[in-house]
Amino acid sequence: MKTLDQGNFKGKTVLVRVDFNVPMKDGAITDTTRIERSLETIQYLREHGAKIVLLSHLGRPKGQAQEAMSLAPVAKKLAEFLDSPVQFLKDDQVVSEDVKKWVKELKEGEVALLENTRFVKGEEANNDAFADQLASLGDLYVNDAFGTSHRAHASNVGLANRLPSYLGRLVEEEFKAFQPVLTEPERPYVAILGGAKVSDKIGILQELVDKVDGLIIVGAMAFTFLKAMGLEVGKSLVEDDKLDLARDIMEKIADRDIDFILPMDVVVAKELKANTPSKPVAIEDIDPELAGFDIGPQTVERIKKLLMTAKTVVWNGPAGAFEVEPFEKGTEAIAKALAESPAFSIVGGGDSAAAIEQLGLAREIDHISTGGGASLELLEGKTLPGIDAVERSRHA
Ligand code: 3PG
Repeated sequence: MKTLDQGNFKGKTVLVRVDFNVPMKDGAITDTTRIERSLETIQYLREHGAKIVLLSHLGRPKGQAQEAMSLAPVAKKLAEFLDSPVQFLKDDQVVSEDVKKWVKELKEGEVALLENTRFVKGEEANNDAFADQLASLGDLYVNDAFGTSHRAHASNVGLANRLPSYLGRLVEEEFKAFQPVLTEPERPYVAILGGAKVSDKIGILQELVDKVDGLIIVGAMAFTFLKAMGLEVGKSLVEDDKLDLARDIMEKIADRDIDFILPMDVVVAKELKANTPSKPVAIEDIDPELAGFDIGPQTVERIKKLLMTAKTVVWNGPAGAFEVEPFEKGTEAIAKALAESPAFSIVGGGDSAAAIEQLGLAREIDHISTGGGASLELLEGKTLPGIDAVERSRHA
C-alpha cells in the first residue's frame, strides 16, 4: 500500500481528496464523522510541511453549482476541528485563475478547501480537461476519500493518473479493519443487509450468500423477499422485477443451510409520516391497505439471539424508515444488539452508522466505515478504482 510514510511532502502542494459528503439539514451539518476522520491525514501533512489543498464532492449536483451543496459550511467546521484557519477557495468552476493564484500563495502547513468538485460536469465524467486543471494546482496527490473510492472520477482516478500519489490514513484504517473479514472471518460470520432496495444490494447479496453463516435481511428490501415467498405485503415497497432474483437467492440459502432471518413481524401504518398510528403484525397478517415501515419486536428478538452467537458481523442498511418516528426502533434495536454482541463488528452506510452514533454506541463497534457503497463493493471483492489508481500510479 502506498501510504503517507513513503512520501516527502515538505514544501509541496498536496491535493488531498477527502470525502466531505456529509449529511446536511437546513444548511447545518448533522454528522461530522467524515470531517473528523480526515483530521489525521491533514495533521500529518501539516506536520510534514505540506501546503494542503482539499477536494471533495457534496451531494449530487450533477455538474450544476447550487448554493445548498456548497462546501462553505464544511470549511467552517473543519477550521473548528483543526483549531486553525481553513481557506475556502470559493469558485463554482472549482479551478480558475483566481483559485490558482490563491493556491500559489499557500504557505507550508496551511490548509485550503476547493468548492464542490461535482459543480463541474468533468468531475463525474473524469474528463481530461478537468483532471488536467485540478492536477495543475499541485505537486502530489493523496486519496483519503475511502467513501468515494468506488467511483472513477477526475478528483480521484484522474489525479492519481497524473501526480505521484499516496493513500491517506483513513483509507489505511478502513483496509486494515476490512482485511480479516475479507480473508478469514472468524465464524459464525453474519451479515445484516437493510435499506430500501434489493437492486442496491444485488452484488453483495450474491457474494455473501456463499460466504456467510448467517444472513439477516431487513428494511424495505425484505418485502421483495416476503412477496417472492407468496406472502401478502400490502402497500409495502416491493421491486417486482427482482422477485425472481429474491427466489434464486433464497434457493441458494436453502442449499447452503445457513441461518436466514427475514422479518417474522413488521410495523405497519397507512403512510410514512411522523407519529402516524402504527402497530406490529405478523407477516401473514399484513392488511392489503397498509405498508410495513419497520421490523417488529419478535424479529428483533431473533436477530439479537443470532448476533449473540456470531463472531463476525457486517451491517449495512437500516431495518426500517429510520428517519421517521416511530419507525426507527428496529434499526436502534439492531444497533444496541450489535453493541452487546461479542462479535467483531463492522458497520457501513449512512443510516446504520448514524444510528450507532446517535445512540452513543460507537465505542462498542469495532469499525464504523466512512463508506456505504464503497464498503459494499469491497465486501463484494471488487477492486475500488480510486484506490487501484493510486497503487498503480507510476509517478510515486
Ligand atoms: C457516499 O456518501 O457514499 C460517497 O460520498 C459517495 O457518494 P455518491 O454515492 O454520491 O457517489
